[in-house]
Amino acid sequence: MNGVRICPMEISDYDQVYKLWQSIDGFGIRSIDDSREGVERFLGRNPGLSVVAKSGEDGRVVGAILCGEDGRRGCLYHVCVNRSCRLEGIGTAMVTQCMHSLRARGINKVSLIAFTRNDIGNTFWKQIGWTKREDLNYYDFTLNSENITRFINAGAASENRREN
Ligand SMILES: CC(C)(COP(=O)(O)OP(=O)(O)OC[C@H]1O[C@@H](n2cnc3c(N)ncnc32)[C@H](O)[C@@H]1OP(=O)(O)O)[C@@H](O)C(=O)NCCC(=O)NCCS
Repeated sequence: MNGVRICPMEISDYDQVYKLWQSIDGFGIRSIDDSREGVERFLGRNPGLSVVAKSGEDGRVVGAILCGEDGRRGCLYHVCVNRSCRLEGIGTAMVTQCMHSLRARGINKVSLIAFTRNDIGNTFWKQIGWTKREDLNYYDFTLNSENITRFINAGAASENRREN
């Protein structure tokens, strides 16, 4: 990992994290949830759980995870590593840190959503020991239609849309 540090995400990291998200083909960025205000609210509700990976050379953000919990289950969103820093163990180190923090808060299970066509993402989760559930369907309901999702590089990634 070349001196990369895994640190709690602070709202002061937001600009760099947002820039990183914008570089991830297929990521869905939500107008409200992923705004500075939305992320600040999320971090405030889940203090110390979300992480950033910072370069050992210049401290710039090269990876990030939004991590939260509802008192029963943990959840990970927007798990990503800068393209030029992948396959160095940064993704694994960030997920491990989130799992450690969730356990320390008495949370017994953690989950995330991966698009079925996200081959890299699905390979990653299986490789680091997560279980793909085959026995359930995922349901959701939109409560606010103004929370619009914009897919990064939607054209190039139309066959590979993903989020978490
Ligand atoms: C998925 C992602 C976060 C992985 O980050 P990373 O820092 O490269 O992951 P790691 O180096 O910790 O890899 C852990 C394991 O996953 C496997 N893996 C990761 N990327 C892989 C790839 N592109 N192809 C094959 N295996 C891969 C590695 O083989 C590694 O296993 P190893 O210990 O045998 O080397 C990164 O590729 C990424 O940001 N992708 C785009 C966003 C995304 O899809 N996020 C997941 C949404 S569900």
